[in-house]
Amino acid sequence: MSNDPVDTAPEDERSAFEKAQEEQEDVDPRTIPQKLDGEPPIGDEIEYPDHSDEDHETWRLLVERQMDQLPGRACEAYMNGQDALQIEADRIPSLANLSRRLHDQTGWKVANVPGLIHEKDFFTLLSERKFPSTNYVRGRDELDYTPAPDCFHDMFGHMPMLTQPDFADFYQMFGQAALNAEGADRPRLERFHWFTVEFGLLREQGEKRIFGAGIVSSNEEVTHALSDEVTLHPFDPEHIVEKDDYEVYNLQDELFVLESFEQLVDGFESWTSSQGLL
Ligand SMILES: [Fe+2]
Repeated sequence: MSNDPVDTAPEDERSAFEKAQEEQEDVDPRTIPQKLDGEPPIGDEIEYPDHSDEDHETWRLLVERQMDQLPGRACEAYMNGQDALQIEADRIPSLANLSRRLHDQTGWKVANVPGLIHEKDFFTLLSERKFPSTNYVRGRDELDYTPAPDCFHDMFGHMPMLTQPDFADFYQMFGQAALNAEGADRPRLERFHWFTVEFGLLREQGEKRIFGAGIVSSNEEVTHALSDEVTLHPFDPEHIVEKDDYEVYNLQDELFVLESFEQLVDGFESWTSSQGLL
């Protein structure tokens, strides 16, 4: 597998994300993956940064805006995950504390990474049940959207779902499969990640609920994803992995709906074994 997918993937093996990146005129340096220099700090090794008051205030604003919308829209597992992790509303949480609480729930730990990292480093950490997270928050001018990773997306968007046992197992399996993937299976897995981990919906007691980190951490997507403007498809790994026309920089116009998190595990397991990836 290539270490540098953005520059070297052949035309027909690029994902929608890779294509969109290549078409950008001015590439934001924060969106260029960096190679990790050795193992990043894990769990209790992670120091709490000296965040400015303005950064804590940005965090507080981001949490407040999302919490006005999430109850009744986010799935139960996500809301329970927030409680289990005790994600603070008024200050940027400590990665070491989140890691400890996450470990108590499902055995995952947090790794502190400097930003977007090379996919091999990313998948290796996932395969070891370590979630790569940044520890800095976006600027005040990027409250609605940032193309770069930040700790609001990582902590608030991703971590609560890692307390759900099936999702937690699936995500480790995803890392293992992605390390084994070559050629066209790489963008296929990226699409799978996009439509589940980032933009997945779940049917719960007959209602659509959100669980994808890209939705729960975006002010506009929370209501848009559940609106009539979005075309919904039943969760189907074969359909997802071939879907190469998704929106990267705009609101999503098509999404997939899971019936349960067991369906995610079973569907992923059978697709990856049919491809010889696990
Ligand atoms: Fe994400």
